[in-house]
Amino acid sequence: MSKKRIVVLTGAGVSAESGISTFRDSGGLWEKYDISEVATPEAWERNQDLVTEFYNQRRKQLYEVEPNAAHYALVKLEEKYDVQIITQNVDDLHERAGSKNVMHLHGELKKVRSSVDEDLVYELDGWEVKKGDTCEKGSQLRPHVVWFGEPVPMIPPAAELCSTADILLIIGTSLNVYPAAGLVGYSPPGCPVYLIDPAEVNVSHIPGVKIIREKAGKGTAQLVDKLLDHS
Ligand code: OAD
Repeated sequence: MSKKRIVVLTGAGVSAESGISTFRDSGGLWEKYDISEVATPEAWERNQDLVTEFYNQRRKQLYEVEPNAAHYALVKLEEKYDVQIITQNVDDLHERAGSKNVMHLHGELKKVRSSVDEDLVYELDGWEVKKGDTCEKGSQLRPHVVWFGEPVPMIPPAAELCSTADILLIIGTSLNVYPAAGLVGYSPPGCPVYLIDPAEVNVSHIPGVKIIREKAGKGTAQLVDKLLDHS
């Protein structure tokens, strides 16, 4: 018999206990930085040095942190389920924990790409991109990250994946950013949906959602144990 499929939508909160700031909590990144200055195509046109430095700092931090209990619990879930992770995060903590199937909706910090040809994507060796680091067509390398105002090319495959879910888990996302937040609407009618977040999240568009008001580490480990017991 084939394994049941669990689709997991994660956001910044799943990495919070690893020490990576979320975006919209108090003290979050968008309180310290102006989105329009660092995470839009216009910001890149205006000040490539500032944008490059912002992402260099995020990438440098990524080398200093480790996956946490939530990432590892999702790996354990693979013992009995076909687990498909769709993450809004640009970190690689799901992969480093050992999850097999990880789709990045908003790009990946450890990759960069050409600023004139989006198909030219490169893995970086270290954390730093310098001015003058160029693609083979001579353009400055930009972060391989989806900025505000840019299309999200991974949405169609992510929606397709959600439509095949037997169970949907949502962990550590404020569900503020579309189109990512709209993915939950693609899960089949009657599909059980669980949401893990220590704060209140607007779930009026998710009928029947079961809310687990815990941090990701504890909440995910508990839910994974329950799902493994009941498989
Ligand atoms: P947000 O910062 O909007 O939301 C983080 C969520 O994590 C909130 O609901 C918090 O309550 C929750 N949280 C905080 N600590 C937690 C913990 N220890 N365990 C579990 N949850 C916790 O981040 P996202 O929803 O991921 O996009 O943001 C979505 C997108 O907006 C990001 O991918 C990024 C951002 O701008 C781009 O950069 C394109």
